[in-house]
Amino acid sequence: MLDLFVPIADETRISVPAGHRRPIAVAGAGAIVDVAHLPAYRSHDLPVRGIYDLDRGRAEEVAARHGVPRVYDSLDDLLKDEDVEVVDVAVVPHAQPGIARAALEAGKHVLCQKPLAPDLAEARRLAGLAEERDRRLAVNQQLRWDEGIAAARAMVRAGWIGTPTAMSFTVDVDTDWSGWSWLVRSERLEIMYHSIHYLDAVRSILGDPVRVFCAASRTPGQKEAGESRTMSTLLFEGGARAILHVNHENRTGDPRAEFRIDGDEGAIRGTLGLLYDYPHGRPDTLEVSSSAAPTDGWTAYPVTERWIPGAFAGPMAGLLRWIAEDEPSPTAARENLGTLGLVEALYESINSGEAQAL
Ligand SMILES: NC(=O)c1ccc[n+]([C@@H]2O[C@H](COP(=O)([O-])OP(=O)(O)OC[C@H]3O[C@@H](n4cnc5c(N)ncnc54)[C@H](O)[C@@H]3O)[C@@H](O)[C@H]2O)c1
Repeated sequence: MLDLFVPIADETRISVPAGHRRPIAVAGAGAIVDVAHLPAYRSHDLPVRGIYDLDRGRAEEVAARHGVPRVYDSLDDLLKDEDVEVVDVAVVPHAQPGIARAALEAGKHVLCQKPLAPDLAEARRLAGLAEERDRRLAVNQQLRWDEGIAAARAMVRAGWIGTPTAMSFTVDVDTDWSGWSWLVRSERLEIMYHSIHYLDAVRSILGDPVRVFCAASRTPGQKEAGESRTMSTLLFEGGARAILHVNHENRTGDPRAEFRIDGDEGAIRGTLGLLYDYPHGRPDTLEVSSSAAPTDGWTAYPVTERWIPGAFAGPMAGLLRWIAEDEPSPTAARENLGTLGLVEALYESINSGEAQAL
């Protein structure tokens, strides 16, 4: 690696000091737990004590595949396990708030999936309950920890592109949602379950927008009830702009998933490897061209981790650090309300046809 990139790589590294490790139980044994959560936790030696799913056969199969020692009979059984300090919730979205509430009330710290709740009011209640109970509640909004995005953010923070002026995500893929019947039926699809990642990543770099506009559509013949193409525009105080154009009905076999950040002294551009062949994908690509740092035109940064499973260690590492050191996770529930609020504002814009102030 070029010496130039060493401090950037140091900032992207996810580490869990031994003193931060706490026993974890997982509620849900679906696709994402199998391909992302458990492999990520294993690679950081995080102790997963047990797993629970409504479908006990599925929980047993996933537990056996990943060497998880215990399968719980019920949620109650999981919550009564006094060895467990952290509950990682990864079930269908409508079941998440109830499980998170029960876990907080049982005295556990909790990691939830995105979206934290189906609506902002419920998410606020969960964040409030965690604070009331002095428990830590964070959201698995892991794109912030994806190596390409984390390195881009570190370069922006190091001043390599000067003052950021614009950020974009252009994603044009063919997504097969058929493995998630609940998603196929959902009236809210693209922003709520997919672009929510880009929105959170943009917030992690440019902060909160002050005004947003979104247009959305479906493609004739698509199977899903919700929107499959969205075009979102975000305006920031100080003049920066972000644009997200995301389509899941690419029927011409030429997928792309690109991002770019421009500043007055350079730019960063990359690709999200995961989306070229979900869920295996390939590592991201990342390049930077800067007049503030010694790059020679577009210079490639060597990304080695993948979004899945690599980035999935990040939210758990952030939660464990918060528990151990009282330093709030970057995706603490209270912070994540900003991302969910942005999601709500974009749907209001779609429905009203008007830009929304935040
Ligand atoms: N990159 C990401 O952040 C990412 C990617 C995929 C999925 N997700 C999220 O993860 C969650 C799970 O997704 P998935 O892909 O694993 O879905 P899935 O449909 O494959 O699995 C869901 C599992 O939850 C179980 N379940 C449902 N209700 C339950 C309950 N009340 N108690 C216990 N188990 C219950 C089901 O039996 C099933 O095994 C969703 O919220 C989804 O939005 C996040």
